[in-house]
Amino acid sequence: MPVDNPSGDRSRGGPAQRGQRLHFNLFFPFAPDYVWSQQPRADIYYDFDALTHLVRSAERGLFSAVFFGESLRLREHLGVLTTDAITGRPDALVLFAHLAARTDHIGLVATLNTTYFEPYDLARRIATLDVLSGGRAGWNIVTTDSAWTGANFRKGGYLPHSERYTHATEHVDVVQALWDAWPESTPQSPVQAVEWFDTHYRITARPEWPRSPQGQPVFFQAGESDEGRDFAARYAEGIFSRYLDFDAALDYATDLGRRLVKAGRPADDLRIFPATSIVLGDTPSDARERHDWFRGQVWTDRRTRAVVEKVWGRDLSDLDLDGPLPDEPPTIVKQSRSHGVMNSRDRPQHIAQQWRELSRERGFTVRQLVRHLAPGAGFVGTPAAVADRLAEYVHAGAIDGLNLTPTAFPDGLDEIVDRLIPELQDRGIYPTEYAGTTLRENLGLAPNVVRRTDRDRKFAV
Ligand SMILES: Cc1cc2nc3c(=O)[nH]c(=O)nc-3n(C[C@H](O)[C@H](O)[C@H](O)COP(=O)(O)O)c2cc1C
Repeated sequence: MPVDNPSGDRSRGGPAQRGQRLHFNLFFPFAPDYVWSQQPRADIYYDFDALTHLVRSAERGLFSAVFFGESLRLREHLGVLTTDAITGRPDALVLFAHLAARTDHIGLVATLNTTYFEPYDLARRIATLDVLSGGRAGWNIVTTDSAWTGANFRKGGYLPHSERYTHATEHVDVVQALWDAWPESTPQSPVQAVEWFDTHYRITARPEWPRSPQGQPVFFQAGESDEGRDFAARYAEGIFSRYLDFDAALDYATDLGRRLVKAGRPADDLRIFPATSIVLGDTPSDARERHDWFRGQVWTDRRTRAVVEKVWGRDLSDLDLDGPLPDEPPTIVKQSRSHGVMNSRDRPQHIAQQWRELSRERGFTVRQLVRHLAPGAGFVGTPAAVADRLAEYVHAGAIDGLNLTPTAFPDGLDEIVDRLIPELQDRGIYPTEYAGTTLRENLGLAPNVVRRTDRDRKFAV
């Protein structure tokens, strides 16, 4: 694979090494994963004014970015919605335009999939946000495993899993070629034409948007198969991961470091952000009590039931949540996952058997079982204890930060900003000011973006 800058020449800046700095991103899920600390509107689980307040709190806490996931279609099982997040999710880039005008430093990272959007359209919209925000935009590149989404785009279950990353590779190469069409050294010279003729795209374009203030918006990635990890090693500068357990996080970081070197990049050219929450308390038991209270609030009946329905593959609206699991075995659905079936890939009988055994051993009702299985906050304790634990993660190189979901909305970050961040700063692992004006600078990434496009083969200018 050709790499224009395989050594990652850092002479033009002083990017941070991994193992030294912790970065927080605000991860707002647009789902009822938190407790309202003020009266919510009955029909909605977010509110733009409240969200703006939350984002400003994050900026007060020197968070690197606000990070939004993407879900373009509600999850369903055999035509029945399987989520309680039913009031919808706004378009990230439009919302970021609103937030860019109300903030000064914080990065704005939008998850946007390569499977359904056209490269020219995405390149233009992300670049516009980047220019508008003064270089604060990031793109979390996903292929999306939600086949239901295809129906929104009249493509059915478009693209089997195995082809998603070969397609994504070409998609991102086109985007990068379009972003590169403005010559870096002489911005006043005319934009170059991009002519791209390959497997998935045949494009002749002369982009009409200005060049990125940060060279290129920061690439994030989320996906964990082998292909997904190789894709991350090739493109990503930040990664949204699922690995929070210390050993698993360290293994993951080591594996990615190896893949980066294989792709011709320095092993520390990537920032890893698992998603989680933090619950603080005055004492360890106070923190634990608060954690259990938050958890009890967000695990509604509907949500608890949906967890069981996904495995059992059928409607269980009559199930008593304070009783045992259903006696009958799960329904095995013959359709593939790409037809929108939840349980075909996840070995439902096997899971059902494990759950029955666990419930028998511990005497769990359905409700207790689901709460037991649900991931709680990753860090629960006094500010000093949580700061110590986070420092261990950072110094070991297991993570570079967290995609943090507040447990309360809209003021759930205030306590973290006021009580935890000073502890982290005292330990020398958290910034005391924004390092620069762009997201790239604030994440301590190399200013000179590594281009991975094979220009000679793929396009001529
Ligand atoms: C931590 C994490 C977060 C993800 N977030 C999203 C998302 O917000 N929207 C989306 O469409 N896909 C999301 N994905 C799914 C990926 O796009 C990808 O399609 C899926 O993980 C299948 O690829 P894989 O087999 O490489 O994991 C996420 C994946 C991971 C691991």
